[in-house]
Amino acid sequence: MSGTVYSAADILSGGELLTALTPPARLSVVGDPVAHSKSPVFHNAALQAAGIAARYVKIHVRPAELPATLRALPAAGFLGTNVTIPHKAGALATVDEADDYARKSGAVNTVMVDAGHLVGFNTDGPGLLRAIREEFAADLRDLRVMILGAGGGAGRAIAVQCAMENCPRLVLVNRTAEKVTALASELAPFFHRGPADRIVAIPHDVQSLRKELARIDLVINATSVGMKETDDPLVPASLLTPNLLVYDTVYASGTSRLVADAAAAGARAANGLSMLLHQGALSFEIWFQRPAPLDIMRAALLSVS
Ligand SMILES: NC(=O)c1ccc[n+]([C@@H]2O[C@H](COP(=O)([O-])OP(=O)(O)OC[C@H]3O[C@@H](n4cnc5c(N)ncnc54)[C@H](OP(=O)(O)O)[C@@H]3O)[C@@H](O)[C@H]2O)c1
Repeated sequence: MSGTVYSAADILSGGELLTALTPPARLSVVGDPVAHSKSPVFHNAALQAAGIAARYVKIHVRPAELPATLRALPAAGFLGTNVTIPHKAGALATVDEADDYARKSGAVNTVMVDAGHLVGFNTDGPGLLRAIREEFAADLRDLRVMILGAGGGAGRAIAVQCAMENCPRLVLVNRTAEKVTALASELAPFFHRGPADRIVAIPHDVQSLRKELARIDLVINATSVGMKETDDPLVPASLLTPNLLVYDTVYASGTSRLVADAAAAGARAANGLSMLLHQGALSFEIWFQRPAPLDIMRAALLSVS
């Protein structure tokens, strides 16, 4: 059943089809597209392991359908939903309330239904934090971080997380440089102590990368490119050094060019599966107020990756 994709109409009609399933659908991921999502696999494994009689389904929702679909979740008997591309900003605009981090990051990826109200959270940044700990036994608050694609949705969420963790240095990189100039100004108050260049915005070009990489511990790819052999390298291989930690948020099957180049340079590198796992585990903890069965979720995710 993890492969079935339902439609917004299935919720808007009152959710009868979904509640008639055994166990009934009570949670979902909404996106456009959404068929590729691996979330149902590990969430359903978690629900089963926790003895919760609920199913997690994929729902294809177009942008124009998002507000009405989210608002129809309580009447359809849903406990909440995850929200993926391209709806995270739209979800923030739709929920009745959102936590501080979701508001700062401009995005909601987790909605909880609470007494008929929609409460928004964003577990992407905290999920990344846990993933970095798991992959590298290191904390964002101790690392000088460079984010490639910091002007995109995931990049912004990660930048806000780094700022809230007060990491010693943050370099925001984006192809469209204006986006990160504005973000650096917005986040500057988090970096007011110490040297003036604790937060920097640079364009995504070789010269700027070369200059900044010398003072970086962790490079995070939050762009939407990198899985194809033919992709231009996001960071030229010659600039990758053994002291770097490299985290690629991309989690499609196979090894991204950045991860392959980093490993070849002797750097420690990991792909985005651990972030996917941890953001999902944090959603489970928000919905059920209890620890997620992480090992079961990880095994389920790895079985389809
Ligand atoms: N592992 C996880 O759990 C997880 C969670 C969330 C997201 N992600 C991943 O994060 C990635 C980004 O998602 P998103 O929602 O943030 O997308 P998005 O909002 O569309 O942002 C895309 C970013 O990529 C940049 N970009 C696109 N093409 C580029 C190129 N050829 N060269 C350099 N930069 C380029 C964009 O720069 P411009 O601003 O110049 O267009 C922008 O900064 C996706 O791969 C997604 O799978 C992973």
